[in-house]
Amino acid sequence: MRVLSGIQPSGRLHIGNYFGAMRQQLAFQAEHDCFYFIADYHALTSNPAPEEVARRTIEVAIDYIALGLDTDRTVFWRQSDVPEVTELTWLLSCVTPMGLLQRCTSYKDKVAQGISPNHGLFAYPVLQAADILIFNSELVPVGADQKQHIEVTRDIAIRFNNNYGEILTLPKEYIIESVAVVPGLDGRKMSKSYGNTIEIFEAEESIRRKIMKIVTDSTPVEDPKDPEKCNVLALLRLVASADELADWERRYRQGGVGYGQAKKRLAELMIEYFRPFREKRAELERDVGRIKQILEAGAERARAIARKTLARARQAVGLGA
Ligand code: ADP
Ligand code: TRP
Repeated sequence: MRVLSGIQPSGRLHIGNYFGAMRQQLAFQAEHDCFYFIADYHALTSNPAPEEVARRTIEVAIDYIALGLDTDRTVFWRQSDVPEVTELTWLLSCVTPMGLLQRCTSYKDKVAQGISPNHGLFAYPVLQAADILIFNSELVPVGADQKQHIEVTRDIAIRFNNNYGEILTLPKEYIIESVAVVPGLDGRKMSKSYGNTIEIFEAEESIRRKIMKIVTDSTPVEDPKDPEKCNVLALLRLVASADELADWERRYRQGGVGYGQAKKRLAELMIEYFRPFREKRAELERDVGRIKQILEAGAERARAIARKTLARARQAVGLGA
């Protein structure tokens, strides 16, 4: 099955991104034909500084490869290296009702936060639809926050096909939900917009310091504690073995264990979990030229498919003659 997903290069990746989305995306590589790309066109909707755009793209590329993206099997590229996608976006825009985009909650949320929207932000889901449709993607694994965008993609594809014939393949969504929301240091959802993240590749010392600051309640050491209500255990659940976790849960219920102890163990396990990836990352970072080559080679493979779909779509709407 052809699986496709994109990630915006909008900041350093955190452990919520990893356990909430990336780990599952990477696991798909074992069974499927994966197409993963870095959505730098999408990132422009927030007008980042030009020098940041390329830098963040390379950083995210290194992160993904270090975390296990297999560049021999998976097609991995930078969105803007396949400019055909923007032309398909236009063809799709012309069958997309305004109302469909006006209903998009991610757009409405951003406006509600006081962001003054540009047309790119409004049209964002149409570009995303083009990303998905141009590669005839069958399955799109994304976080729950992206569900609506996949529905919009299907809706646009149906309209296009109704007008012009069966040109576009309808994708299925795959909502990644093997882990519940990963809590951040303050107990809210870990998110870069809340400043409560632990980055996957930040210095080990800094990971330790942050973990010691995780918010807990003030139950005294000797009292029993509810393992379901503790942010430290919620994170420990991601990295501890089943046996060790059961042991912590038992000790929490019994009382006599302090949150500080659990935090220390969490820091150890978290650092251990990501250590091999960190070593791989350090190695990759030494040869940025190689990373660029990988992305360029991926773009070439991706482009060959994109050109074909675009040619069919152009022909279908009457531009091909
Ligand atoms: P952020 O909230 O930091 O801006 P993004 O929205 O860029 O993160 O997240 C990219 C993907 O990572 C999302 O689609 C979502 O599935 C996943 N993700 C992000 N934060 C979490 C979290 N705290 N718990 C689980 N999954 C998350
Ligand atoms: N909008 C997605 C996000 O913010 C990123 C993205 C862009 C994407 N194009 C895509 C995801 C196509 C899946 C398929 O997470």
